[in-house]
Amino acid sequence: MEKITVHASGTYDILIDKGSLGSIGQVLKERFKPCNIAILSDDKVFPLYGKTVTDALTAAGFKTVSHVIENGEQSKTLDNVTAFIECMVRAQVTRTDMVLALGGGVVGDMAGFAAAIYLRGIPYIQVPTTLLAAVDSSVGGKTAVDISAGKNLVGAFHQPALVYLDTDTLNTLDPAVLRDGFAEVIKYGIILDSKLFDTVAVPDSFDLTKVIARCIEIKRDVVEQDEFDKGLRGLLNFGHTFGHAIEKLSGFTITHGSAVARGMIIAAKVARIYGFTDYTEVITKVVKDYCFETNCPYSADELYSVILSDKKRSGADITLVLPKEIGACTLEKMPAGQVLELMKKAGL
Ligand code: GLY
Repeated sequence: MEKITVHASGTYDILIDKGSLGSIGQVLKERFKPCNIAILSDDKVFPLYGKTVTDALTAAGFKTVSHVIENGEQSKTLDNVTAFIECMVRAQVTRTDMVLALGGGVVGDMAGFAAAIYLRGIPYIQVPTTLLAAVDSSVGGKTAVDISAGKNLVGAFHQPALVYLDTDTLNTLDPAVLRDGFAEVIKYGIILDSKLFDTVAVPDSFDLTKVIARCIEIKRDVVEQDEFDKGLRGLLNFGHTFGHAIEKLSGFTITHGSAVARGMIIAAKVARIYGFTDYTEVITKVVKDYCFETNCPYSADELYSVILSDKKRSGADITLVLPKEIGACTLEKMPAGQVLELMKKAGL
């Protein structure tokens, strides 16, 4: 079993292994006192892994209660968090108990948020079952729900007590969902690790478990330096400023990974106009090789209108993550109007 430790406001381990889901009870027993565990999952994941997890926890002396939401981003609402919290109240979950997120990013973000606010905060465990959740959302303590004004606008920083990844759970992923996660993997290579980029540039040519562990290490290093997203952590948003705008303009019919993939190409185009070396071709090639669409169906003006409402904007400025080299992105703060100008000059 591979172990990566994060030292943030809470110190916790990320455990990675193949075929380890059935051992989760034993592993938790070695680390936590017997308690109630409130499991949040969704209707795609729970039928696959709910019984394995609950049986393992029960056998190890934990009590469990489960709450299952509909799979998909549309479920990441305050109402669903309230329903989960009410389930915890009925099950008499207390501050010495725990939440466990069994699923992808939606479940992880919601479970983490519920754990952050229930009784002013109880511990939670992330059991990610998608590649995106494994390499990104389960690590680093960002928790949130969406409201009609935008994605992740209500949330809290709350680090998990443990992240437990059985890489076998990725085998049952829909290929499109797995591919979405690769957009984040490619992102890590471009922002901070050219060797990782070279390794993943050819799909299916590498050991996925090793690649996941490397992505998590990169995220760990960033989170340890900037847990509360005041600066450096912004690098993790490479491709996301434009990607979020594409996602939103499409009414979320373009998936997160597909939008981020296109967003990374836009960032490369913008970086060229900004005066950096042109990596558009290199990034477009890898995006294409993972069978993502490369075109952006929206104009610079359309993207800009959404970017202006982004929560990551500070005052009149926008910080873009731009590739200076593959493996070395920088944060470039500029007046919002300059972003529009750069996008237009880049041909959007
Ligand atoms: N997903 C970006 C971050 O955790 O900061």
